[in-house]
Amino acid sequence: MKFFVDTADIAAISELNDLGIVDGVTTNPSLIKKSGRDILEVTKEIAALVDGPVSAEVVATDASAMIAEGRKLAAIADNIAIKLPLTWDGLKACKTLSSEGHMINVTLCFSANQALLAAKAGATFISPFIGRLDDINLDGMELIADIREIYDNYGFETQILAASIRTVNHVSDAAKIGADVMTAPPEVIKKLAQHPLTDAGLAQFLKDAESAGIKIV
Ligand code: E4P
Repeated sequence: MKFFVDTADIAAISELNDLGIVDGVTTNPSLIKKSGRDILEVTKEIAALVDGPVSAEVVATDASAMIAEGRKLAAIADNIAIKLPLTWDGLKACKTLSSEGHMINVTLCFSANQALLAAKAGATFISPFIGRLDDINLDGMELIADIREIYDNYGFETQILAASIRTVNHVSDAAKIGADVMTAPPEVIKKLAQHPLTDAGLAQFLKDAESAGIKIV
């Protein structure tokens, strides 16, 4: 499973990237707003920092304006994935921009039929939003499973990018289903390392090491 970081915070991306666990980055207009930075400037910095795909989202709503914005975003760096919303115009822009050889991340996916359309329009990634479905008492993970089944039935190469991940269980559940990628905020990625038995076990080992006078360097 590839790990993308869902943030435009350079310091947070850097810290995780130094660990070698970052396969890409996703941003959206809300995350750019949170960073307080100019979209072109911060996206360029992120794209230079990480080797993998960096998703940058258009803000236009009609296909021709989305295409113009997508081309401008893609010109920032070779590893930009143009992020397009799953609307009819977004699908048209997806078809045009993917045919030009750009990576496309189709975002705001909330149904298996939407995911099917995105794959047929040539999307590189489809982003089903797990957390936002859970928020309204639906089952985000069921959507990941449905898309996996449909894509496997027909051999679509579009990668399932499990998005809107809020909990560590979202990560392991999406991995069990076989999502190709997950994108999560840095805080959730860091929590993946935590376990109370690790903390308790380490505390005991350190206590014993001290009382036994164990010194290594
Ligand atoms: C993904 O590409 C989105 O940026 C993100 O995962 C949305 O997450 P949220 O629903 O927690 O805002």
